[in-house]
Amino acid sequence: MRGFLFGLSFMLAILAVPATAQETAHLSVDASKSGAKIDRNLFGQFAENLGHGLYEGIWVGPGSSIPNTRGIRNDVVTALKALKVPNVRWPGGCFADQYHWRKGIGPAAQRPATLNSAWGGVVDTNSFGTDEFMDFMQQIGSQPYVSVNVGSGTPQEASEWMEYMTAAQPTALAKERTANGHSDPYKVGIMGIGNESWSCGGDMTADYYVSQLKIYSRFVDNVNPSQKGSNHMLKIAVGPGFPETEWTEAVMKAWKSHDWSWDIDGLSLHSYTVPNGWPPSTPSVDFAIADYAKTLKSTLFMDELLRKQEAVMDKYDPDKKIALVVDEWGAWHAPLPGSNPSFLVQQNSLRDAILASLNLNIFARHADRVRMANIAQMINVLQAMILTDKEKMVLTPTYYVYKMYLPFQDANFVPVDFDPSTVHRDGITLPRVDALAAKDSSGKLWIEITNLDPGKPLEIDAEITGISARSARGETLTASAVDSVNTFAVPNTVVPKSISAIVKDGKLSLTVEPKSVTVISLEP
Ligand code: AHR
Repeated sequence: MRGFLFGLSFMLAILAVPATAQETAHLSVDASKSGAKIDRNLFGQFAENLGHGLYEGIWVGPGSSIPNTRGIRNDVVTALKALKVPNVRWPGGCFADQYHWRKGIGPAAQRPATLNSAWGGVVDTNSFGTDEFMDFMQQIGSQPYVSVNVGSGTPQEASEWMEYMTAAQPTALAKERTANGHSDPYKVGIMGIGNESWSCGGDMTADYYVSQLKIYSRFVDNVNPSQKGSNHMLKIAVGPGFPETEWTEAVMKAWKSHDWSWDIDGLSLHSYTVPNGWPPSTPSVDFAIADYAKTLKSTLFMDELLRKQEAVMDKYDPDKKIALVVDEWGAWHAPLPGSNPSFLVQQNSLRDAILASLNLNIFARHADRVRMANIAQMINVLQAMILTDKEKMVLTPTYYVYKMYLPFQDANFVPVDFDPSTVHRDGITLPRVDALAAKDSSGKLWIEITNLDPGKPLEIDAEITGISARSARGETLTASAVDSVNTFAVPNTVVPKSISAIVKDGKLSLTVEPKSVTVISLEP
């Protein structure tokens, strides 16, 4: 009889185990501990004059049948406002070093048509210029990050552009801006001095760039009286786009011995996830789990890249005055079949959403030095937030990650102790779990959990101290497959769903789905 009962209970136990047995991750979060502020500028965007990023994605023109305000599409503005985008980098990218701002101001009919030789040699009507970009910034409630032309422009051209944008006194350029409909000076919060000057920005040596940097930093200034002192415009120097550190050495060494005449506030870093190397070949639709695993493995290199560059920055700037600004990052996949390869069109899947969460978590862990980042790019280009096709618009899985991460903007980093464990797929080993915690200005604790395992749910067993909580609630983002996407026809395949959990005796227990991103707040 005992043997029978033992056999029966053994069989019941087997039946009780779900088909995909669950793993457990033990986390420990002490809310009384805190680290650096997770600067909201880490959630910045990048809108280059490339493909349908600006034209069609943002600008349809005042005469369009697509609902718009002064030529800027209303659906896109509404979607972006909800993300509280802290800053938008414009007009490039490689395009910035060929852009001559004067061609993009004044009555639309009088603007010259030019060629966008950086991206496909297509005709550029210049209808979306400085005043339209500033209008877009005002409509979405964001701050301009303007990249000036160092490659094919001059310090004088850039200086006049800044004066056009920011002068309050009645100079000729300020009067021209007034005639173009904007009497108040614009606020330009951030200025990039060139772009990838080691490549498309002029193939310069580091020393040559440093000599240009000094001149631009000295002579190109924001003259808006409200942007002085602690509110001054941040000047960002070109930094590396590779793991080697010679470029960073050159810029930081020059900065260390700079005199009163010039200064910078940040050094940029570009790093795309291109798992098979250049040219990008990973498909953005209909891919296998092996592609998923390879892409995530590759994106995790961001942490090592930051460490390498930070080590050099720490040598010259131990007080961390200069921010490391990752102003181009994201997944760069193969062009979508049938699209113009110069337009860098790709779909955006659950894989990209998970990739975004991993990178945002890495940036947050480096928040004492990494204080700004711009995903590439905002609309219709690379790892976009939004895709449009004429009057249609769809929000991507990456958009939803940015929405879910809103509580982390300007929150204070709280360390999370956990063993990431490992998951093996197609010969690739990935961490099974990633996690981030932070306290917002009201003292509320937020926890993010990424389950990288494409096949198994993960039981979270978290010890929460330093705050009293009885429940947790938030949202989780997943879908049936790693390559699930949102399309114009079926836009809600990858959208966040509500999730809640009990906290008892300081223990939070919840199960997160395979291949998912979850953000929860701890509630009293
Ligand atoms: O984001 C696309 C391009 O990638 C940018 O123009 C350039 O800076 C980088 O190489």
